Amino acid sequence: MFERQLAAALSKEGMTEEEILNALEIPKEAKLGDICLPCFKFARTLRQAPPVIAAKLLPDVQALEFVARAEIVGGYLNVFFDRTYIAKEIAEIAENEIVGKNDEGKGKTICIDFSSVNIAKPFHIGHLSTTVIGGALYRIFAHLGYRVVGINHLGDWGTQFGKLIVATRKWSSIDEVAANDEYFLNSLYVRYHREAETHPEMDDEARAWFKRIEDGDKEAIAYFDVFKQVTMKAVGKIYDRLKIHFDSYAGESFYNDKMEPCLEILRQKKLLKTSDGAQVVDLEEYGMPPCLLVKADGATLYATRDLAAAYYRKQTYDFYKCLYVVAYQQNLHFKQLFQVLKLMDFDGADDMEHIAFGMVSMEDGAMSTRNGRVIWLQEVLDKAVEKAAKIIEEKNPNIVGKSAIAESIGVGAVVFSALWNNRIKDIVFSYDKVLNFDGETAPYVQYTHARCASALKKGGGYNVAEADFAAITDDEGYEVIKSVLGFGDSVKLAARLREPCYVTRHIVELAGKFNRYYIGHRILAEDAPTRSARLMLTQAVKNTIRTGLSLLGIDAPEEM
Ligand code: ARG
Repeated sequence: MFERQLAAALSKEGMTEEEILNALEIPKEAKLGDICLPCFKFARTLRQAPPVIAAKLLPDVQALEFVARAEIVGGYLNVFFDRTYIAKEIAEIAENEIVGKNDEGKGKTICIDFSSVNIAKPFHIGHLSTTVIGGALYRIFAHLGYRVVGINHLGDWGTQFGKLIVATRKWSSIDEVAANDEYFLNSLYVRYHREAETHPEMDDEARAWFKRIEDGDKEAIAYFDVFKQVTMKAVGKIYDRLKIHFDSYAGESFYNDKMEPCLEILRQKKLLKTSDGAQVVDLEEYGMPPCLLVKADGATLYATRDLAAAYYRKQTYDFYKCLYVVAYQQNLHFKQLFQVLKLMDFDGADDMEHIAFGMVSMEDGAMSTRNGRVIWLQEVLDKAVEKAAKIIEEKNPNIVGKSAIAESIGVGAVVFSALWNNRIKDIVFSYDKVLNFDGETAPYVQYTHARCASALKKGGGYNVAEADFAAITDDEGYEVIKSVLGFGDSVKLAARLREPCYVTRHIVELAGKFNRYYIGHRILAEDAPTRSARLMLTQAVKNTIRTGLSLLGIDAPEEM
């Protein structure tokens, strides 16, 4: 907060605004000030002792309207803000339901490739993180004024389709599949794998069917379309619950006719080598195995489609950045892909980013995909909602709209669990942990929001003009104020580092600070100016929490 203004006011020869901005720190203890400048960082270039530098800066700092006082302690210049001045900024936040929005990204387009589920394979818990991290990044960038293009690069190509055709013909029919849901489809897939173990000839049949899809055979395509429809209907329901939206569903099959021009560029640049009949780009020089693009039988690969997709996206969206929210298991794939694009002189090669994340496993040790032991995301959501409903029944049985509130809490809890840590950390999912109302969880934040709503309802409005700011600038109130005002910076940080957890952590911290304030102070104080100030603060906290939750894709019920 105020870093920019402070840096601008203090910059002089030998200390640029940028250098000061980088040097500014938040003191470890609040009694040392709101912000401090370690002057020893400039001692070498200025050839002056740190306290001398600090003394020179002191008058400039004290002249700033938002500064109450400054002190020199050792080599540090410690700055204390004027609490009443800062408290007044809260009024604006209380007035606007949406907090921290700006247009720093204006004119820039960000493509985010996320969720990217595989057709005819289950939407399992392994796809939770990409879906919610991608969704959060989508909203965070949009909040900062970027044009965002959400792309679901569907895994709708590959031998699994041939396998499903074989299974459908053996044990079901196209009509039966079309009339059923994704669980039915998956049961065929599981049965195929079980039986193929002892009947390897099924795999030849499956390959032949997939070849027919590749060749555009009508009968084969009819199966393909039905499998895709069934899966899309199922994932659509999940996206609705998670409040996820895509601007494009151009998946792998979309690139069937768009790979040849890429291969042609590679040939022209003499980058394509033949190795055992396959065509590869040699990446030995970069310490990586070769990138396989065309198999000996002429089939293209995942990487070939990603090359075509990169070109297509650049051409279609003219992106500023193109992000791929994909598990770290694919680190090598993206390193290879980006390197090949560089070698091709692809315009945009430096703007490609793999946004990696860790794995999700269940508390009981179960992982994700193993045949027949799949943990469906839908089941996880349902179970969390069911447990949330039980908790509501215990805590607040007379509340209206119970089932909608249970949905908000249960789904919110699951979403939150994938957005709490730095992306790269593996997650062990536990229902009890994510639904703990007193933990670092969505329900805790949602509960704080509802607490604000209830106080505001009881308070029946406030008047900024008569508010007594001194009533909210004691140490506990001031902590809340700073957290509200610092929210915008956390959103920016989350965008810059592509880490939604900075938003998540910020609202949890704010909720904690507000709850401490709430316990120690009467929001609905007798005295009107005090009440106005406290209600205004409560409204600002509510708006900030609500904005934060909505950026993460989590509902904020008014009551719970
Ligand atoms: N469908 C892939 C998977 O589930 C993820 C695709 C990611 N996007 C991409 N352009 N490669 O593993």
